[in-house]
Amino acid sequence: MASPAPAPHTLADFALAAEQALDAATWAYFNGGAGDEATLHANAAAWQALPLWPRVLQPLAGGHTRVALAGHELAHPILLAPVAHQRLAHPDGEWASALAAAAQGAGYVLGTQSNVPMEQVAEAVLADPGRGPLWFQLYWQADRGFNRALVQRAEAAGFEAIVLTVDAPVQGVRDRERRAGFALPPGVHAVHLQDAPAVPPADGTYCAGLPAHAPTWDDVAWLRAQTRLPVWLKGLLHPADARAAQALGVAGLIVSNHGGRTLDTAPATAQALPRVRAAAGDALPLVVDGGIRRGTDVLKAIALGANAVMVGRPVAHALAAGGALGVARMLRLLRDELEMAMALTGCRTLAEAGAHLLDPATAAVWEQAGPR
Ligand code: GLV
Repeated sequence: MASPAPAPHTLADFALAAEQALDAATWAYFNGGAGDEATLHANAAAWQALPLWPRVLQPLAGGHTRVALAGHELAHPILLAPVAHQRLAHPDGEWASALAAAAQGAGYVLGTQSNVPMEQVAEAVLADPGRGPLWFQLYWQADRGFNRALVQRAEAAGFEAIVLTVDAPVQGVRDRERRAGFALPPGVHAVHLQDAPAVPPADGTYCAGLPAHAPTWDDVAWLRAQTRLPVWLKGLLHPADARAAQALGVAGLIVSNHGGRTLDTAPATAQALPRVRAAAGDALPLVVDGGIRRGTDVLKAIALGANAVMVGRPVAHALAAGGALGVARMLRLLRDELEMAMALTGCRTLAEAGAHLLDPATAAVWEQAGPR
């Protein structure tokens, strides 16, 4: 008899367990990226390549991982990114990952392409007093009225922000997924999109008519006017886009390249983040995702100017490996690793995790100032 797999101790262990649990096509769907997957790999490699410059003998008593984000005090800066079709990973789907997020005080972003109705997810999250924020991700649909109805439904269900994804006017070139012959199995549906307006039928080109319906900056302004909820944009990398978004009064930005699933060879988010922060100034909340797999990555993201981070694929991995309990454990591991990274770099709180952790020149300036 095969010996049972050891309990996951890292996010990479969860990925291994998921690869064993899922069929090859589903694994390719969750884990693949666009094209040659250059951006997919660059994301993780960029975090890894940044050295952390530890300070020693700093006072650590009373340290914590708390951050303020968009009016919430979060126990830690880790949110779950919107990941489509989570019932591919576990029969409980988004309900399970949402429950785990709430139990671990993590923010949760439900995807438009959820397999579980948003009301059921909201009910699970809102019942937990220790929960983090609950947001709804919007994939722009080809009809403003339908978008308005989705947003109003999310408002009524208790979601607290709308996250408009802006980096996928068309799907990326998903070679790995296509090679594996991935198709949604019967019984797994995007439940919110069953009555969505049809886009024009394919004309033989890969993009097949979709770009005519892709959202523009005008639609962002329109969307803001349709809802009392704050609107975030997800999928910006360019500093000029950050300034344009800010001018429209968005609540915050998610610096993201969609986990390398849309434009291949787009920059790693660790490269884009400090540029977006510099363009946006200090006040605009920024969340970053893409390749964050270690507590040290979280700390680096904060040091580069993020207020919080999101993880995407690890949600699917942990769900496939262990359902809600798997996701809760994955979150706990990442948070514990963050605490260790903070202690080992001399950061009592995340407010102390500044550029000096990554840049020896800034570190030298900080040294002259003495311990804070
Ligand atoms: C959906 O957002 C996907 O990247 O597959």
